[in-house]
Amino acid sequence: MSTPRPTNPGPVPADDPSPPEDHIGGRHRASAPEPAPLSFHGPARVIAVANQKGGVGKTTSAINLGATLAEYGRRVLLVDFDPQGALSVGLGVQPQQLERTVHDLLISNDSKPDEVVIPTKVPGMDLLPSNIDLSAAEVQLVTEVGREHALSRAIQPLLADYDMVLVDCQPSLGLLTINALACADSVLIPLECEYFSLRGVALLIDTIEKVRARLNPKLSISGIVATMYDPRTVHTREVRTRVVEAFGELVYDATINRTVKFPETTVAGEPITRWAPTSSGAQAYRHLAREVIAREAAAQ
Ligand SMILES: Nc1ncnc2c1ncn2[C@@H]1O[C@H](COP(=O)(O)OP(=O)(O)OP(=O)(O)O)[C@@H](O)[C@H]1O
Ligand SMILES: [Mg+2]
Repeated sequence: MSTPRPTNPGPVPADDPSPPEDHIGGRHRASAPEPAPLSFHGPARVIAVANQKGGVGKTTSAINLGATLAEYGRRVLLVDFDPQGALSVGLGVQPQQLERTVHDLLISNDSKPDEVVIPTKVPGMDLLPSNIDLSAAEVQLVTEVGREHALSRAIQPLLADYDMVLVDCQPSLGLLTINALACADSVLIPLECEYFSLRGVALLIDTIEKVRARLNPKLSISGIVATMYDPRTVHTREVRTRVVEAFGELVYDATINRTVKFPETTVAGEPITRWAPTSSGAQAYRHLAREVIAREAAAQ
């Protein structure tokens, strides 16, 4: 099914926000039913949370989507794949104090994945942490054979234990992000409801297409989630409308409002489901989790 092309150029600049028309779009909009409980776990669907634009809500979405998927009984592994370690910090882990991180799995053959995975405060959600060591991996991997598949090899032994693996990417389209795309079943794109947000999405989609063609034929786009939405301003409403015009059914119904609760959760080191369980932010991520579960089930 084709994804609708934009009909109205609108007020938001975009290089060419229209996605390619075949294979990666075309999912039916999920009605977000309450997910059925699982009678067994695994093998996991791997979702890369990616956008090369910085500060759009990738890490916040990985943490809170992970926590809400866990609330729905899914076993979740969060992979911190950004040398900044923001996802680890957001879950109350001090990255510099870690003895082992995802970097060890990528570079050394001695480390076992289950020695690196640590539990989080959220039942059913574990973390593969990262710290600044990961920045060296990009350099170290360059000379490796099969360098794009290092993360895939590293997490392969873990997939049987989880239902969803969320990989939090750094804001670039470098080798680490390519590794995440090369091992993912799908990509979740957080898109900030800001004037320039559509710039760069065409490049991201182009990169996803190339990875799908050359490295990972199963890769698809899970969807685009609008973040930092402020319903009081005409501006963000316009931007979201423009995103829906451009990407149609790829856009999740769930929309994440801009609220100070999210920065607060980072300081608290826990997901919004624990910090403010009844807040609209927590409800929005529960809505997103229901849609993600439905789309990933339909894609299998
Ligand atoms: N819905 C929201 N409302 C308000 N603030 C938010 C929201 N989502 C995220 N933030 C805040 O915006 C900042 C950037 O968010 P986040 O770290 O999730 O983005 P990111 O895309 O992972 O950034 P980077 O590209 O640097 O990895 C953080 O301070 C976070 O707390
Ligand atoms: Mg981040």
